[in-house]
Amino acid sequence: MKQTVTRLYENFKPEHYDLELKLNPEDKKFTGWVSIRGKKTGRPSKRLTFHQKDLNITKAVLHRINKKGSNTNGTEIVVDRINLHKSYDEVRLHAAEMLYPGEYHLVLEFSGTITDPMNGLYPCYFTHDGEKKMLLATQFESHHAREVFPCIDEPEAKATFDLSLTTPPTGTVIANTPTRSVLDEGSLRTTIFETTPIMSTYLLAFVYGDIESKEALTQNGTIVRAFATPDNVQFTDFALEVAVKCLDFYEDYFDIKFPLPKSDMIALPDFASGAMENWGLITYREQCMLVDPKNTSLPTKQYVAMVVAHELAHQWFGNLVTMRWWTDLWLNEGFASWIEYLAIDHLFPEWEMWTQFIVDEQQPAMKLDALDNTHAIEVAINHPDEIRSIFDAISYNKGASVIHMLHGYLGADSFKDGLRHYLKTHSYKNTDTTDLWQALEDISKKPVKKFMHAWTSQPGFPIVSYDFKDDVTTITQERFYLHKPAKPAATHWPIPVLSTDKAPERFDGSEITFKSAFPGKINHGQNGFYRTIYDATTISELSSILVNFSPIDRLGLLADSFEAAKAGYTPLNNALQLLTAYENEDNSAVWDIIAGNIGEIRRVMDDQDVRDAMKPFIIKLTAKESYRLGWEEKTTDSYFDKLLRPLIIALNAGSDEHFTVKECLRLFDTMKVPEDLPPDLRGTIYVTAARNGDSKTFDKLLRIHNASTSSEERTMLASALTSFKQPAIIKKALNMIPTDTIRRQDAMYWLAYSFANHHAKRAAWDWMVKHWDWLDKELGSDLSFYRTPLYAGRSFSEPEFKTTYHDFFKDKKSPGLDRSIKQGAEMLAWQIGWKQRELQNVLTFLN
Ligand code: BES
Ligand code: ZN
Repeated sequence: MKQTVTRLYENFKPEHYDLELKLNPEDKKFTGWVSIRGKKTGRPSKRLTFHQKDLNITKAVLHRINKKGSNTNGTEIVVDRINLHKSYDEVRLHAAEMLYPGEYHLVLEFSGTITDPMNGLYPCYFTHDGEKKMLLATQFESHHAREVFPCIDEPEAKATFDLSLTTPPTGTVIANTPTRSVLDEGSLRTTIFETTPIMSTYLLAFVYGDIESKEALTQNGTIVRAFATPDNVQFTDFALEVAVKCLDFYEDYFDIKFPLPKSDMIALPDFASGAMENWGLITYREQCMLVDPKNTSLPTKQYVAMVVAHELAHQWFGNLVTMRWWTDLWLNEGFASWIEYLAIDHLFPEWEMWTQFIVDEQQPAMKLDALDNTHAIEVAINHPDEIRSIFDAISYNKGASVIHMLHGYLGADSFKDGLRHYLKTHSYKNTDTTDLWQALEDISKKPVKKFMHAWTSQPGFPIVSYDFKDDVTTITQERFYLHKPAKPAATHWPIPVLSTDKAPERFDGSEITFKSAFPGKINHGQNGFYRTIYDATTISELSSILVNFSPIDRLGLLADSFEAAKAGYTPLNNALQLLTAYENEDNSAVWDIIAGNIGEIRRVMDDQDVRDAMKPFIIKLTAKESYRLGWEEKTTDSYFDKLLRPLIIALNAGSDEHFTVKECLRLFDTMKVPEDLPPDLRGTIYVTAARNGDSKTFDKLLRIHNASTSSEERTMLASALTSFKQPAIIKKALNMIPTDTIRRQDAMYWLAYSFANHHAKRAAWDWMVKHWDWLDKELGSDLSFYRTPLYAGRSFSEPEFKTTYHDFFKDKKSPGLDRSIKQGAEMLAWQIGWKQRELQNVLTFLN
């Protein structure tokens, strides 16, 4: 792969850092002192280069270490010039003499400022007892350690760290490792932490401020602490309990003890992503860690468990063994996104996580991967800025899905043993994708590399056509495109057939035939990353025996049928016909697929007649489950019933079903505080009030929003506050985005929700155009910002919008935005085409 960014690690290999930082929260400034010991490698030169960004470097003292381990400083080498190289995020030290390969010791003094964007060292704002407070936190992944101290800021440059933090004497200070000692001097306190293991810079972290904690122990005696701001620490119990159990689970599964003496977690009031796996100090967005038994909805509680399991998996897979370069970010994220299901399925078997896996991981992955403008899992990263563009459903969801397929292919034991071998071989070191395949191949003795390479190095995935005639089944494959390009790629994949039949285990070519007595479903358990379309006789055969299928196979059959129709492989009518066979469906995961597809038809057709005809159709479709589940929770509810009830009620409310709307409005009108409403129905009640409300409703929702201290509640209210019909209210909501009413971390929710409201999408576009520079400046370092073009493009199906879209984005191209702009354009083109093709057919079917 061509490499266009110089890796500083090639010329200097740091071994140990002593880092002293003095934080001044009042002035939002810091000063620092760092000593870096390491080896200069490569060609002799007069220059030493380190990463830094926006730092002011005031002093540099360089020594050559003459004898390894000697305790003198060695020979001083004069540094002539300290050169800050802005566009490269570098500081270049020019020495008076030639520097030959060998051991060096460098001391740098520097200072910097603490700024609001939630990267590097940044402030979080909250109130306690009516008093405005601030805490300081760090976010270093992917390349923000350089904003806090000069270093070799690349994942391969692993070293040990001795950190010392000087702060005001009040407040708590935590970092990756436990506190070694505390020194009070005048009005300042210095906290010194224990030496870290050998680790990458992106995993360092510390937090200072008015925080409190609860603690527990794992079976092996590791201390686990859950931190939050004082008002929120009461809501950390659930995450703490899950963390303890996950650590026990992973120690057993990986067969490696947790590598640190303690494991902290903290819920931060301002946080750019969902959570971050800093070694021994995992940071979270509040919504991803806090559970309030009275106010947290069931899906949010489940999500908290998943995020905890995800970040803890990284403590081994990612932190102990780390990718060599960002190209393999997928390895970190895809793996963690898979094993979080294994862990939570172990902890809560009644949640049926593997059924949810197909809906929440595999299906979204296939949707993005169906675009011509997708990318292969393994993707070249030439500059860290490009990482933001691959923080997507390919790296996460497709990564997890191909690991799921591999797990099925190798079997649970073989997979686990291979993984243990991988982690033990590469502990405290760096790897790339083939190292994982090699370890799994060594243990399983199966051709892992050959099987997996096709899935991780090629973009896209196959659609398999199944044809049964005269006791012979024919299977063919081709690349699946939602919107077929002029020159489709002729790619093939090794496909696990997964049939109960006498079919071959795998199929690599473009076509095979085999004898079978009767037709049957392939891709059993949806373990393979592909879609299937069946011939007409087979599909009617399969739809008559749906009751014999597991929920996964039921939802897989339906999802494949709808997606094939959306892409034009089959008429939409086939999928709608198949849907009528699901009249007895009672599983919430299958209903997620049903609701998703109905919603998508309504959204893309964006037509009043379709919306009108859809209402009685949905009410009829949900009638049976509506009657079975009612409004009240029952002791006989299964876990999935608890998830399904809110969905069925939401479908009815969205279809203006008279009783449902009336009940939602009654509950909204009588509520005084959010706690008056059941947490699982609260979102639907708010949105229904908004859809049927006026400015008085808006004011009430806004009052609750502004009074709320819960980040989950605020997100729910953001969705309601952007669901109005009235142009004036829509504008008012959009114009709140750049104000203090909305935290920067939530801004993108408001914009994305506005795009999703068909009354508001045009205003959202105009607002976005007008505020693009603000978005770029305030959220440009946020990963979600890079999805804005896709959010916009997929909201329209009017042919005339094409020029509007292209005219605006044509000069907005950048390494981070480029792919999203193309994806948005492709979605737009597909939507325009699908609407033209199917609008009449949809209306005919519904009427
Ligand atoms: N390491 C990531 C967060 C990250 C990735 C930060 C790239 C900066 C650059 C973390 O492990 C993660 O994946 N977080 C997810 C939540 C997870 C449960 C899917 C997130 O933040 O959304
Ligand atoms: Zn992750």
